[in-house]
Amino acid sequence: MKILACNLKNKLTKEEVIGFQNLLEELPIGSTKLIIFPSFVYLSFFTSQKYELGSQDISSFNETTLTGDITADQLSSLNVKYVIIGHSERRKLKNEINIDFINKINHAQEKDLKIIYCIGETLEEKEKGNTYMVLEKQISEVLNNVEIKDIYIAYEPVWAIGTGRTPEKSEISETIDFIKDIVDENYEYSVKVLYGGSVSPENITELVKIKNLDGFLVGKSSLDVKNIEQMLNKMN
Ligand code: PGA
Repeated sequence: MKILACNLKNKLTKEEVIGFQNLLEELPIGSTKLIIFPSFVYLSFFTSQKYELGSQDISSFNETTLTGDITADQLSSLNVKYVIIGHSERRKLKNEINIDFINKINHAQEKDLKIIYCIGETLEEKEKGNTYMVLEKQISEVLNNVEIKDIYIAYEPVWAIGTGRTPEKSEISETIDFIKDIVDENYEYSVKVLYGGSVSPENITELVKIKNLDGFLVGKSSLDVKNIEQMLNKMN
C-alpha cells in the first residue's frame, strides 16, 4: 500500500483547518494510506478513521518536565501513530542534530509510534558529488543507535523542498535503491522509502511511476484538499 503523507507544517488558521478537515472527511481515499500531519495545536481536530494521524515533532526528553514540549504519551492519547523526525527545516533552523533524532526516536518508540526519518542532501553537497556519502552518514549515525522497528525513511533533497524543483525520476529511483540497500545490508531491515520535495498534483503523474518508491511526503501542495484528492487519484 502506497503512502501519501501530508505535512501541513506551521500553516493554516483554526478556521482554515476546520474547513480542511471537513473537506477531507468527504474525500474518497481509495487504496492509498493517507497520513495527515497537522500542527500540534490542531491534532485533536483530526479524529476521522479515514486517515491516520501524525505529528510533525516530538520531545527528545522523556522523563524531564519541560515547558512547551510534547511527549509520546500525549501524542498517543490523541491517536497519533506517526512522527516526523529529522526534517531538514528542523536540522537547519532549530539546529537539531543526530543525538536529538536518536532521543526522539527512542522516546516515540516507547509508545509504539512509527517514525518517518527524513534525510537529504543540500544543493552544495549534491554539486560536490557527495549525495550518497551524506545520506549514508545520516542513516548510519542515527540508525546505529536506535531499535530498528517501524521506521520509514523520507528522502527529501533539501534543494527540492518548497522550491518547485525535483530530481529526475531516474535519480530518485537510484537513490531509493541506495537507501534500501544500505538499510537492508546493515540492519537486515526492509525499509519503506517516501520521496519528498515539491511533490504536486502535476508532477506526481510521473513520480508514481517510480517502482521502488513507497509513497510521498508532501508539504505545500497538501494544504489544499483538492490537491490531495488529485494526488490520491493518481496514486490509486
Ligand atoms: P514541499 O515540502 O512539498 O513544500 O516541498 C515537503 C516537506 O518539507 O516535507
